[in-house]
Amino acid sequence: MASGSGDEEGNTGGVSWRLIGPAPELSKKRCRLMHSSLGYDSDVCLFYVKGEFFAMDARCSHSGGPLCEGDIEEADGVLQVFCPWHDYNFDLRTGRSGTSLQQQVYEVKLEDGNVYVKHRSRLSLQPFPPDRKS
Ligand code: FES
Repeated sequence: MASGSGDEEGNTGGVSWRLIGPAPELSKKRCRLMHSSLGYDSDVCLFYVKGEFFAMDARCSHSGGPLCEGDIEEADGVLQVFCPWHDYNFDLRTGRSGTSLQQQVYEVKLEDGNVYVKHRSRLSLQPFPPDRKS
């Protein structure tokens, strides 16, 4: 019935739109940590700043600092997150830093009141259970 909705969530190794949750709920916090089914290093931050969602790798590309806990500032119309560990800045839109570092960013879309992030793995607001527990 639904038109144009793909059913690719089960794909492995492919990039798909991942349903995160309802936008009104997710917009209550400035940042949410989204756990990746690929593990800690692939976790993603979902920022909500000035009415817009942004998704970016959660571990800083410098030394792995928690970007979800960083300050957000706007300079010359550019929204940036500052890593809490060494204060490197990353453009929320492009992932570019004032240094030579580059943080991976991901597309976000709103559909039917829900937030989706384009990512190669499943993403969840709850941690995935360890493999050995089933
Ligand atoms: S770990 Fe983020 S700036 Fe060093």
